[in-house]
Amino acid sequence: MKINEGIYLVGSGGAGCMISNSVDCHVYLIESSEGHALIDAGVGLEVERVIDNIKKEGLDPQDINHLFLTHTHADHAGSTKALKDMLGLKVYVSKAEAHLLRSSDLMDQGLDVAIIDGIYPQGYKFPNCEPDVELNGGETINIGEWELTTIHTPGHSKGSICYLLKRDGRVVLFSGDVVVHGGKLMFLNCEGSVMKDMRESMPKLANLGIEELYPGHGCFLCAGGQEHVNNALEALKHLTPPPNAF
Ligand SMILES: [Fe+2]
Repeated sequence: MKINEGIYLVGSGGAGCMISNSVDCHVYLIESSEGHALIDAGVGLEVERVIDNIKKEGLDPQDINHLFLTHTHADHAGSTKALKDMLGLKVYVSKAEAHLLRSSDLMDQGLDVAIIDGIYPQGYKFPNCEPDVELNGGETINIGEWELTTIHTPGHSKGSICYLLKRDGRVVLFSGDVVVHGGKLMFLNCEGSVMKDMRESMPKLANLGIEELYPGHGCFLCAGGQEHVNNALEALKHLTPPPNAF
């Protein structure tokens, strides 16, 4: 579904709009005159539903040239291999998590615990995949009319990346699982989720003038995004843990 000019939601599971597999994160499509980009991929189950959603919007999946991963948790990165095989797109991932995309183990990122919790089906196996570009944070990449800047924001996971996009005065942040609606953070009981990292990362999102905030799950914002980020920054100034999304 089109959620703003040049931005579509083409995948979303149970923590969102249920337009694709129930485990999928939000999968966003950035439209440009020089080829489109995806932000995150989904879990790797029922990938064809994401492809169908793209076609329903009148867009050609073969025009997607880039896939930017916010991190490599399976609900975000499990469809990477299938999409790369199908569309030949270029895969971007944090240098800190590139090895997990190549050869993740169930224990590496809490997938074993998530299967016990029933989040992923029994027997689920993460489809490994070779990334094309390893990001350090601070890179600027042009996607047609859009200028995309990468921000390395570990805390939810070791290699979480937020993507700041600008076009015609718009300031848009794709925040993955770092910060979501209301300024809630997403700490998990697994490797890579570290409060100290989050304390050091979140100030990178201060004073960016974010209007549109598109997180990996839940409600997204078409205006006023910076206020929600500021709520998280304020919560991290106190002794008790900040509000968690789940
Ligand atoms: Fe995650």
